Amino acid sequence: MNILLTGASRGIGRAIVSSFCRDGDHSFFLISRDEKSLLRLKEKCLTINPHCSFFIYSSDLGNSADLEFSIDKIKKDTDVLDILINNAGSLINRSYTDLSDAEMREMFEVNYFAPAILTRNMIPLLKKSNKARVINIGSMGGYQGSLKFPGLSHYSASKSALAVLTECLAEEFKSSDILFTCLALGAVQTEMFTEAFPNAKAPVSPEEMADYIVNFAQTLQKDMNGKIIPVLLK
Ligand SMILES: NC(=O)c1ccc[n+]([C@@H]2O[C@H](COP(=O)([O-])OP(=O)(O)OC[C@H]3O[C@@H](n4cnc5c(N)ncnc54)[C@H](OP(=O)(O)O)[C@@H]3O)[C@@H](O)[C@H]2O)c1
Repeated sequence: MNILLTGASRGIGRAIVSSFCRDGDHSFFLISRDEKSLLRLKEKCLTINPHCSFFIYSSDLGNSADLEFSIDKIKKDTDVLDILINNAGSLINRSYTDLSDAEMREMFEVNYFAPAILTRNMIPLLKKSNKARVINIGSMGGYQGSLKFPGLSHYSASKSALAVLTECLAEEFKSSDILFTCLALGAVQTEMFTEAFPNAKAPVSPEEMADYIVNFAQTLQKDMNGKIIPVLLK
């Protein structure tokens, strides 16, 4: 399968790539700002499965010119995509009044606008797959009615926007073969979790969450199209 994943350099995204590699001979299209980490991941994955292939895009998803450049490169590297996982996320833990306008916008750029623009540009490639899936990685913080935490207002609001976009796209593309879902993740032990909750320990490892997401992506059926699914593994 051809799999495009953002935020592959560390945390859950990195573990998703390793998990897919164990499962089959896939082609990966990977985005993050940290090219060296992506190259290290490629080397590690090739030891797991030498039949996988890797295309790496060093890009700041908060920068529209950067994103556009990567989109053009991806379109040159492939004309079909089976899975798009919008996983990259930005979280700045700061009280509502202390957060600057620029920080507020940065979270919306990375967590909402980048997935929205990337998905829109990938639609023609997804339409060429007969089993296309777009999985948006949301958060329990952006799930309506869930417990909310001080310091995470705009992070949570941006994830909520992504969740509603998922529902809208499922409706707009319901006559196509593309399925859209949003996984609203609970706590996972990564750098982002430590930024949000410095003194806490998450019950789930990135590898456990990645295995869940990979299995979900491969078994996703039409009845889940447009759903926002809370994922609390423990
Ligand atoms: N961990 C949790 O408890 C938890 C809970 C709910 C939802 N989530 C969601 O799960 C997803 C993965 O999070 P994680 O916990 O694995 O976080 P992480 O370890 O902090 O990793 C974040 C990833 O996003 C990428 N990223 C951040 N800003 C970027 C930018 N401006 N441009 C390009 N890439 C950028 C990072 O890549 P570079 O820094 O290399 O660019 C990195 O690969 C996120 O969407 C997050 O909101 C996590």
